[in-house]
Amino acid sequence: MVTAIVPAAGRGVRVGAEQNKILLPLLDKPLLVWTLQALDRCPFITDVVVAVQEAETNRVADLLRRYALQKSVTLVVGGTERQDSVRHALQSVTEDCPFVLVHDAARPLVTPEVCARVLHAALTVGAAIAAVPCLDTVKAVDAHGRVERTLDRRTLRLVQTPQVFRTDLLRQAHAAAQRDAFIATDDAALVERVGHPVQVVMGSYDNIKITEARDLLVAESILKGRGY
Ligand code: CTP
Ligand code: MG
Repeated sequence: MVTAIVPAAGRGVRVGAEQNKILLPLLDKPLLVWTLQALDRCPFITDVVVAVQEAETNRVADLLRRYALQKSVTLVVGGTERQDSVRHALQSVTEDCPFVLVHDAARPLVTPEVCARVLHAALTVGAAIAAVPCLDTVKAVDAHGRVERTLDRRTLRLVQTPQVFRTDLLRQAHAAAQRDAFIATDDAALVERVGHPVQVVMGSYDNIKITEARDLLVAESILKGRGY
C-alpha cells in the first residue's frame, strides 16, 4: 500500500509560458494528465494526493473528471516552496499507509518500471530515489565563473523523482526541516539531514523534468518514440 504524492503547485516560471507548465499540452493532453496516468498504471499505488495552486484547483478537478483515473485522487492546496506542497500533501496521507512515493508533476515520462525499482529499494532501506549517472564533466566554479575544481563524475548522480520513503520517516524529516527552517529541492535531502540512509537506484534518462520550453519538445519526441 503506497500513496503517491504529486507536487504540482509550482508556477513554471522557467518554461516562460502564460500558464503553469503542468497544464500545458504535451501532444494531445495536459502534462499533468500524462504524469497521473503513468502513476495510475503502477499496481502498488493505492491512491494519489496532488498538491495544486489554490487558483488552479477547479481546472485540475475538471481534468480529473475528463480523464478518469482508476485510483482515487485527492487535491490539496500547495505552498510557497515545493517542500511546503509536499508537506501539505503528507498531511492528508492516512496513518495506516506505510510508504509514500513522491513524484513531480513536471516529470510526465516516468514509467511504472522506474517506480517499482525505487519502491523495491525503499522496502528494505526505508528511503530510495531514482537517479542517473552524470554523463558530462562537472566543475565547481566561484562567483566569477572561475573553476575551483573538477568533480569526479563517477561519484555523482543526477537525481530525479520518484522518491519513496517510509511514511513516518518522511513525516519526521519534514517536521525537522520545518522546525529548523531548512529548505531543499528534494525530499531525500530532508531525510539525509535526519541521518537516515537513502538508496539510489537507476532512474531513466527519458524521465526528464519539464523545466525549460525546449523540454516540452524533447518530451513530445520521446512520447512519439513510445508510439503515442
Ligand atoms: N512545485 C510545487 N509547489 C511549489 C513549487 C513547485 O508543488 N511551491 C512542484 C512543481 O509544480 C513541479 C515540481 O514541484 O511539479 C518541481 O518543481 P519545478 O520543476 O521547480 O517547477 P516550478 O517551481 O513550477 O518551475 P519554476 O521553478 O521554473 O517556476
Ligand atoms: Mg521551482
